[in-house]
Amino acid sequence: MVRLAASLLALSATAWAAASCSASSQCPKDKPCCSQYGECGTGAFCLGGCDPQASFNIESCAPMSVCENRSYKWDDLDNTILNTKYLGNASDADWTYSGFPKVEDGNLLMTMPKKTVGTLFANNHYIWYGKVSGKIKSSRGQGVVTAFILLSDVKDEIDYEFVGADLSNVQTNYYWQGVLDWHNSGNASVDGSDTFDTWHTYEIDWQPDQTRWIVDGDVKRTLKKSDTWNETANRYQYPQTPARLQMSLWPAGQASNAQGTIDWAGGEIDWDSEDIKDKGYYYASFGQIDVECYDPPSEAKKSGNTSYIYTSDSAMEADVALTGNDTVLGSLGATGLNMDLGANSSSSASSSSGSSDSVPTNSGGGSGGMSGNSSSSSSSSDSGSSTSSGSGAAATTTGFSQGGQDNGAPAVNERALRGSLFAVLVAVVVLVTL
Ligand SMILES: *[C@@H]1O[C@H](CO)[C@@H](O)[C@H](O)[C@H]1NC(C)=O
Ligand SMILES: *[C@@H]1O[C@H](CO)[C@@H](O)[C@H](O)[C@H]1NC(C)=O
Ligand SMILES: *[C@@H]1O[C@H](CO)[C@@H](O)[C@H](O)[C@H]1NC(C)=O
Ligand SMILES: *[C@@H]1O[C@H](CO)[C@@H](O)[C@H](O)[C@H]1NC(C)=O
Ligand SMILES: *[C@@H]1O[C@H](CO)[C@@H](O)[C@H](O)[C@H]1NC(C)=O
Ligand SMILES: *[C@@H]1O[C@H](CO)[C@@H](O)[C@H](O)[C@H]1NC(C)=O
Ligand SMILES: *[C@@H]1O[C@H](CO)[C@@H](O)[C@H](O)[C@H]1NC(C)=O
Ligand SMILES: *[C@@H]1O[C@H](CO)[C@@H](O)[C@H](O)[C@H]1NC(C)=O
Repeated sequence: MVRLAASLLALSATAWAAASCSASSQCPKDKPCCSQYGECGTGAFCLGGCDPQASFNIESCAPMSVCENRSYKWDDLDNTILNTKYLGNASDADWTYSGFPKVEDGNLLMTMPKKTVGTLFANNHYIWYGKVSGKIKSSRGQGVVTAFILLSDVKDEIDYEFVGADLSNVQTNYYWQGVLDWHNSGNASVDGSDTFDTWHTYEIDWQPDQTRWIVDGDVKRTLKKSDTWNETANRYQYPQTPARLQMSLWPAGQASNAQGTIDWAGGEIDWDSEDIKDKGYYYASFGQIDVECYDPPSEAKKSGNTSYIYTSDSAMEADVALTGNDTVLGSLGATGLNMDLGANSSSSASSSSGSSDSVPTNSGGGSGGMSGNSSSSSSSSDSGSSTSSGSGAAATTTGFSQGGQDNGAPAVNERALRGSLFAVLVAVVVLVTL
């Protein structure tokens, strides 16, 4: 998926002239970190989502905070921080977000006001095997997608995705290092009343040898690591690297998206729907979220207990170590190569110097992410949305040629655009839907 993101951004780079990066085109030393969205920078680019395979070298990304057994409730948003402010101290803030979150009746409401790209939450404590469980009421309506996923910095991914046009099923999916394989997705029926009206509990039980998707206590799907063996490459294409829990609400069916994405999402989004009229936004509700950490693999190299780091860019399970290395950057100018840079002025750095090279979301507009209002990103709205729709399919044909599906069958291209990574990408490009 890094290639998808990189290609998308490369094709739309004229809008904001950011350096793009991929595993075959790493970042330069002065902006060593390749963000989740395939652009080079410092600061927040080196935190959650920083791709070690596409960065300047294996130490460019900051170490990843270790897993913590936790139960999250939503009486307030005190344990959250805007993605433009986070410097890597997970003890300070459990979640980084962008978009329009609200707290209502003890639940987290992720909202998507008219013509916005919705809301994204990412947990700052990486999980290296564990069980996550969420009480969720999905959003509804064609074109509206809710996601509850585990995503690693090298794009290992395990998903639940709720398509607002089908409230009786939830889709399950996984990726290994972002390699697209449409065989990976599945459909789980949700028994009882629908996913919008009723709370259901969705669990991902991610173990070193198998992953289970469990809805209301029923195992809906089991993926065995042994079934992911790739004989040609001599490797398990199984999610196996430290991952963050991410939750999002996004407009897959915005008119400017590729037709395959819109079709998957059940059609174009209706910005005059009942929810928009009644509440002013689409919304998904999240109740209690539980995280249980499993022990790291017993063979894992251990020299401490504060962070995970990658030790080789093949980025398989054996290439991750548990260390005592610090995770906090001194400022938005700092990187994994120089973590303390600007530490003395961190408060001003973190509040005011969120340039487009230090906070990935800024690349889509001027307003420092989606905290506020995407209206200021008018220049990127045209270029961004049209290129993402126009280039999405192109990006997948060019971008995934290494994945063996390089005949570029339309089905494959369409699948590519369904990925939640695309959701995240779209969200961060800060498109204004037109
Ligand atoms: C971790 O810390 C060690 C010792 O301080 C250092 O040599 C190494 O570069 C650090 N690794 C990363 C990925 O930060
Ligand atoms: C991280 O945040 C905690 C809680 O606010 C604080 O006690 C700690 O000193 C911070 N650590 C660093 C390295 O800034
Ligand atoms: C899931 O099931 C629904 C309803 O049966 C169907 O419309 C949809 O195409 C299925 N999705 C997948 C990915 O199989
Ligand atoms: C989390 O809790 C489980 C038991 O529920 C325990 O085995 C594990 O060591 C704990 N992990 C951490 C990181 O606290
Ligand atoms: C963390 O690691 C340090 C040094 O490796 C060790 O002294 C300490 O007991 C560990 N703490 C926990 C909670 O395991
Ligand atoms: C931070 O400031 C102190 C005193 O003002 C100074 O001694 C120290 O060298 C500074 N550190 C950095 C990393 O600039
Ligand atoms: C964005 O700002 C404009 C004017 O500055 C305002 O009309 C609009 O309602 C705002 N949108 C959101 C989602 O806050
Ligand atoms: C298995 O690995 C080979 C060699 O890297 C690759 O071409 C092929 O696409 C992989 N198969 C799958 C299903 O990913």
